[in-house]
Amino acid sequence: MEAQQTKRILVTAALPYANGYLHLGHLAGAYLPADVYVRYQRLKQRDVKFICGSDEHGVPITITAEKEKTTPQAVVDYYHKANKEAFDRFGMQFDNYSRTSLPLHHETAKEFFLDFHKKGILKEKAEKQLYCEKDTMFLADRYVEGTCPNCKNPGARGDQCENCGNWLNQEDLIEPRCKVCGTTPVMRETKHWYFPLGDYQKQLEKYVEERNKRDGWKDNVLQYCRSWFKEGLQDRAVTRDLPWGVPVPIEGYPNKVLYVWFDAVLGYISSTKEWAQQQGNPDDWKRYWQQDDTKYVAFIGKDNVVFHCIVFPAMLMAKGGYVLPENVPANEFLNFEGQKFSKSRGWGIDLKDFLDEFPNADALRYAIAVNLPEYHDSDFYLKDYQARNNNELAAILGNFVNRTLTFVQKNFNNTVPQLHSLTDEDKRHLEYLKNVPQDIGEHYERYRFRDGLLAVMNVARAANKYFNDTAPWKSIKNDPERCQTTLHICLQTVRTLGLLVEPVLPGTAQKIWRLLNLSSLHSQQWDTAGEPELEAGHKLGESEILFSRIEDKDIDSLLERLAAESRKAEAPVKKDTAPIKPEIAIEDFMKVDLRTGKVTACEKVKKSKKLLKLSVDLGSEQRTVVGGIAEQYKPEDLVGKNVIIVANLKPAKLMGVESKGMVLAAIGEKDNPVLLMPEEAMPPGSTVR
Ligand code: 2FM
Ligand code: ZN
Repeated sequence: MEAQQTKRILVTAALPYANGYLHLGHLAGAYLPADVYVRYQRLKQRDVKFICGSDEHGVPITITAEKEKTTPQAVVDYYHKANKEAFDRFGMQFDNYSRTSLPLHHETAKEFFLDFHKKGILKEKAEKQLYCEKDTMFLADRYVEGTCPNCKNPGARGDQCENCGNWLNQEDLIEPRCKVCGTTPVMRETKHWYFPLGDYQKQLEKYVEERNKRDGWKDNVLQYCRSWFKEGLQDRAVTRDLPWGVPVPIEGYPNKVLYVWFDAVLGYISSTKEWAQQQGNPDDWKRYWQQDDTKYVAFIGKDNVVFHCIVFPAMLMAKGGYVLPENVPANEFLNFEGQKFSKSRGWGIDLKDFLDEFPNADALRYAIAVNLPEYHDSDFYLKDYQARNNNELAAILGNFVNRTLTFVQKNFNNTVPQLHSLTDEDKRHLEYLKNVPQDIGEHYERYRFRDGLLAVMNVARAANKYFNDTAPWKSIKNDPERCQTTLHICLQTVRTLGLLVEPVLPGTAQKIWRLLNLSSLHSQQWDTAGEPELEAGHKLGESEILFSRIEDKDIDSLLERLAAESRKAEAPVKKDTAPIKPEIAIEDFMKVDLRTGKVTACEKVKKSKKLLKLSVDLGSEQRTVVGGIAEQYKPEDLVGKNVIIVANLKPAKLMGVESKGMVLAAIGEKDNPVLLMPEEAMPPGSTVR
C-alpha cells in the first residue's frame, strides 16, 4: 500500500435523521468507530476534524410531522436536541454537530445544484410518477408503499425495499398505496432534474480501485461498489415534489425541493463551514475540503454505501476542487438480543434509555466496540454487556489499576516509589509497554477497532500477570527495594493504560489521569504512551472506583421491560373505534330487557335491499323483528340460529313491517353488522345481562 501524503484528517460520520432517537445499532454502525478513530488521531497529535450533524430533510420527517399533527421543523428541533444530548452523554467528541435546516446548509446545497445546472450537467426530464388524488400530492419515496418486485416483501417503500436492500423505482412497486391515506395512487406527469451518474462511472471505478489500493477498503464496501458498477450506473433524480427540504433554486419549480440525499451529503461541508465560522476563521473549512493533502474518511453504516462511495464522490467530481473520501469504512448491522432493531416492532433500546439505566457510557462503548459488526452483522446481548463489564472491565482493567493504587497508598504514602535495579522480567515488561502503542495504532489506522481494543485489553492482562508474578505483597516484607521497583513499573503501566484506553474509554482515561494526579491528558503523545514518564516522588490522587459491577437483577428487569414494550408495540391497534358514550348508571342499563331467541323463520322485506324479517321464538311468545342485515346474511342461513333481542323496545314500522324489538349485532368494518349468535344451546327467552 502506498499511503497518501497526509497533512490533516477530515472525519465525517453519517448525519443521523432528526426523526427518531439514536439506538445502539447506530452507534455500532458509524459513530463509535469514528469517535475511536478520531480520539486516537488526536492523541497522535494530528490535525483532525470530526464533523457530523442532523439530517433534517426527507420524507420520514414529514410523515412523522403528519402523524404527530405538528410541523417538520418541530420534529427536527426536538430530535436534533435529543440526539445531540445523547451523543454527548455517550462521549462523542465532534468538532461540530450541525443541522441541515440551517440557512448555511441550504446555501451550500443550492450552490452545488446551481453549479451543476450552469455547467449543463443536470438533465431535465418529464416523467410519470405516482400521485395521490385524495391527498393531492406526488408520492415521493416513502410516501408510497407496496410489494417489492424482487423479493415480494409487502412493505417495500417507494425508494427502497428494506427486506432485500434493492433500490426501487416507484412505478415497479406491485399494488402501490399512499402511505398517508391508503388509497391507490395514479400516474401523473411531473418534471425533475436528474444527475447523470452513468457519465461518471469510469472515473468512479478508477477512484474506488485506486483508493482501495492506497488505503485498503473493506471487502463488504468494495463488493457493494463493484456490483453497482456491474449493473451500470443510471441517471438519478435529484429533485422531489415535496414542501420540506432545500427549495430548487431555479424559476419555474415551485413546490419542489432537492432530494434529501443530494443535500444530506453536502451537510458534511456546511457543517465544516459552520465550525470554521465558529472558530472566527470562516475560510478555514477549505483547508479540509479543498487541499489534496487532506485525508478524508467517511464513517457510515452499510445502508449508506452507495451514497458515500458513488453518489457523493460523483457530485464532488462534478463540482471539482474537493477531496474525495480516502476510505469509507462502513460497518454491517448490529442486532439486539438476536433480532434486528426495529422501530415498528418496538424492538431494541435507545441510547438515552440505555444510559438512564446504566450511566457509565464507557461500559457501553466497550461492549459495543468488542462486538463491532466490522465484517458481518453482529449481536449485542445485555448478558454479554454485563459479563464484559464485570469480567473484563472491572475484573481485569479496573482490578489492576485498583490493586496498584491501593498498594501504593497503603505502603508508599500514595507516592510513586523509586526505581532500583531491573530484572529481566521488568525489562521485558517495559519493552512491551514501549512497543504496544504502535501495534494498537496500526489496527486503528486500518479501521480494525475490535483488534485494537483486544490489544489494549491484553496490556491490562499482561499488567495483572506482572503484578502477580512479582508478588509485591511478599517483597514488601523481604525486599523493599524490589517492591518499590515493581510498583513503580506498575504505576507506569497504569499511566500507559490511561492513554491506551482513551479512544474507547474516554471517561475511564480521565479517571485514571485523576488517580495519577496528572494534568492535560489530551496533550499526551500516543507514541510515547509506553515510556516511563511518571517520576519517582510524584504524589498520586485520591482513589476512585473505575467500574462498578452490574447485577443480574438489573439486567433481568431491563430485559423484561423491553420484551413488554415490544409486545405492546406489536399488539394490533384498533383503528377508528367509535368514542365511548357518556357514563350511565346500572339502573339505566337494567331498563334494557335483553333475551335470547331462536330464529324460526326468515325472509326478505319486499322492495328493501337491506332489511330481513325474522320470526324469533322468545320462549313465551313468537316475535317479528326487522333488522338491516340483508346484505350480510341470506334468510335460509339464519333459520335455527340463536340471536339476542332487545325485547322491550317500542315497536316501530320499517318498510311497512312492524318490528317488535331489535336484534343485536356488532358493527364491523365499513359499518357492516355482524350478528351476535351465541353458539351454546340455551332455552329461548333467557335473560342476557
Ligand atoms: O441513514 C441515515 O440516517 C441518513 N440520514 C444518513 C445521511 S449521511 C449523509 F449523507 F449525511
Ligand atoms: Zn393518499
